[in-house]
Amino acid sequence: MIQTIRVLYKRYSDALLKSTALGGFFARRIKLGSGVSRPQIPPHDNHGFWKDLPKGFCVLAPMADVTDVAFRRMIAKYSRMGAQGGGPAVMWTEFVSADGLASKGREVLLRDLAFTENERPIVAQLFTSKPENMKFAAHLVASLGFDGIDINMGCPDKSIEKQGSGAAHIKNPELAQKVIRAAQEGALEYAQEKSKETGTTVEPIPVSVKTRVGYNKVELETWIPKILDMNIANLTIHARTRKEMSNVPARWEHVARSLEIRNNHKVRNAQGELVQCTTRIIGNGDVTSLAQAHDKIKQTGCDGVMIGRGIFGSPWFFDSAFNAEHDLTIRRRLEIMLEHTRLFMELLGDIKNFALMKKHYKAYVHGWHGAKELRIKLMEAQSVQEIEGIVAEYCVNEKDLVECTLARAQHHTHIMLNK
Ligand SMILES: Cc1cc2nc3c(=O)[nH]c(=O)nc-3n(C[C@H](O)[C@H](O)[C@H](O)COP(=O)(O)O)c2cc1C
Repeated sequence: MIQTIRVLYKRYSDALLKSTALGGFFARRIKLGSGVSRPQIPPHDNHGFWKDLPKGFCVLAPMADVTDVAFRRMIAKYSRMGAQGGGPAVMWTEFVSADGLASKGREVLLRDLAFTENERPIVAQLFTSKPENMKFAAHLVASLGFDGIDINMGCPDKSIEKQGSGAAHIKNPELAQKVIRAAQEGALEYAQEKSKETGTTVEPIPVSVKTRVGYNKVELETWIPKILDMNIANLTIHARTRKEMSNVPARWEHVARSLEIRNNHKVRNAQGELVQCTTRIIGNGDVTSLAQAHDKIKQTGCDGVMIGRGIFGSPWFFDSAFNAEHDLTIRRRLEIMLEHTRLFMELLGDIKNFALMKKHYKAYVHGWHGAKELRIKLMEAQSVQEIEGIVAEYCVNEKDLVECTLARAQHHTHIMLNK
């Protein structure tokens, strides 16, 4: 898995280097290279939609080359996002380089920032170590209509850390604070411009951070207060250190401790008074079902839980009223997989490799007798047409089996084996 993450992060950062000129399209907004001025503290607790989320929410993790525009649309549809019992409560984009967005080559990156209304609330995740680029990118993200900006301060990939971004921020809290403040300023600046233009008050979109519990060792007591001092709207804590990558089980006791730190923390409000910190805290790591997420919320007191790898091949994951094992036939499962593949090709086929879909196939085609043989064929396919052909053939050859749910398929297999 780590290898996969590395490859994905690498591929992603390589894409950043592929510049295409867009002229000075966005240049009018903020002068690049200008320093970030003395922070202007937003005139209110700028926590946007975060403050209204009822405690106990579940959100979708940002995952490069996984939670892309196609998969997010599938999740919004099949998890009934926005409807009662549906979810997730918040979506994240994949991480996007603020340096890339601030460059002339931003065009490819803007494709990663496409979203539909059904995905709201949605936050754009950015990374950089350059405050001026963060300010520019935050302004741009606000102008695109996002509900929030999230800053990646946990990515362990070497190519990201080399830029001083991702987990490298844990080693330099002062710079991390400047980057956060720059994002808040970019959002505020856009809101002020928009307010002037429309004659109504436009609120700046909130800023959040996603990080780990420390770099080489647990550093909650020093690192978390530095972040909370910035009065951010939400802090997501991946319950491992940078050094641990994903090699050890997530340690949720660190999420519980972060809650205590938050509860004892004071921040300055717009009037300069010290007030209780109200930053929401989300825990993250190794959660694979909604039931597990709710257990974590009970055990740690965290406001919400973020789910990453648990959603591979399960766009229905966040629908609390839906039990795929009992409610979904294998045929329907395969149809949804095809729908996902076609959407991926339609939206991203010209810029992303078809092979990226294969990690989803592994998860869609799993849990019944004969799934492995089908999976092997799908792994060898090179195009959407081949995938369609393989699925059609399977549905003809296994016409009884594909009408079963996974729960019933176990039973079906039992009868077939005993015939
Ligand atoms: C393929 C992959 C890509 C990822 N990309 C990002 C990313 O773009 N931004 C980020 O903050 N974390 C990223 N992560 C980390 C996840 O958001 C999450 O913190 C991690 O997978 C642990 O949660 P989980 O156990 O629920 O998967 C990625 C993880 C994976 C597996």
